[in-house]
Amino acid sequence: MFPRNHWYIACASSQLGSAPRAVRILDQDLVVFRGGGRLPRALVDRCCHRGVKLSLGRVTGGKLACGYHGWQFSGGGACVQIPSLAAGRRIPERCGVPAFPCVEQDGYVWVWLGGAGEAAPPPAPAIDGFAAHRWDQGSVALACSAEKGLENNVDWCHPVFAHPWTHGQFYLSLFRGLREQLLEVRPTPDGMTLRGPLRDAEEGPALRPSQVLLSFKLPDRVEVRAVGALARRIVLHFVPTGPDRCRMEWLIARALPFGARVRFRSEEPEVLRQDRILMESAEAACAGEGAPREHHVEADAPGLLLRRILGWAARGEWEQKRATVPERRVIRVRS
Ligand code: FES
Ligand SMILES: [Fe+2]
Repeated sequence: MFPRNHWYIACASSQLGSAPRAVRILDQDLVVFRGGGRLPRALVDRCCHRGVKLSLGRVTGGKLACGYHGWQFSGGGACVQIPSLAAGRRIPERCGVPAFPCVEQDGYVWVWLGGAGEAAPPPAPAIDGFAAHRWDQGSVALACSAEKGLENNVDWCHPVFAHPWTHGQFYLSLFRGLREQLLEVRPTPDGMTLRGPLRDAEEGPALRPSQVLLSFKLPDRVEVRAVGALARRIVLHFVPTGPDRCRMEWLIARALPFGARVRFRSEEPEVLRQDRILMESAEAACAGEGAPREHHVEADAPGLLLRRILGWAARGEWEQKRATVPERRVIRVRS
């Protein structure tokens, strides 16, 4: 379901210290570590000697040393030292493990999973406005597909029910009940947006105070953005670890502009936990009883578009299919 030729988050920058770290992305086990100059590096997490996990080893002088017999690997994956070799004996030819492009940017270590031998990857995708905020950051493993996590975040009508006491929409509904609203769905060059509520169906493109913009960006990013008095910024990545597992990397802009640029928190925010329980329940039911026959209503249109975009991207068809998606669709929901 997810294309490989994209940058994916391996971990938060602060979570990659002097020890190697095991990371799973799209069923691929990787080890990330800080090599020479403390630059992040990513290799297949499997030693080419006897196959043990390199993430069980240690970093020494910018090289990754396997924990079994101490073979050492450079950041590029080449085996550069074998301690058991007697004087004059040579390292076997082409001895090494596959490496992946790896960079550090905007509070994260990113890995490019595209196939070996391909042209150099494009720059890692910047987090728009990262330097303008102070952030709380965290990481949570989810027992559900990344697609479910992403779809949940363009689902306008769930917070009233799913987020008691933690979400603005819940409080609004307490005071004034459910109301009809118009929402605008647009494709973008690398995903889609959902904006609302609109004052009327003929509104311009700018985000107004009192509106919220939800956006999806391929392959695995969703953002919540509000301006004005309710200014809010949330950036989530649902990194697919396997077909029915993912890792949510979350960033929430802090209200006050003080302190470190990024502060890593181990506790899971309640509003994210509420979604997680629901998504995991749906995944568990799928595993037990098979995929359900779903019924859709107008409010599901953004999620259905997100699913289609993901499917097209995974098959390399997004560029060509984008023209088939209307530039703007206004849907009417109660929320
Ligand atoms: S298994 Fe890695 S050095 Fe032997
Ligand atoms: Fe939610």
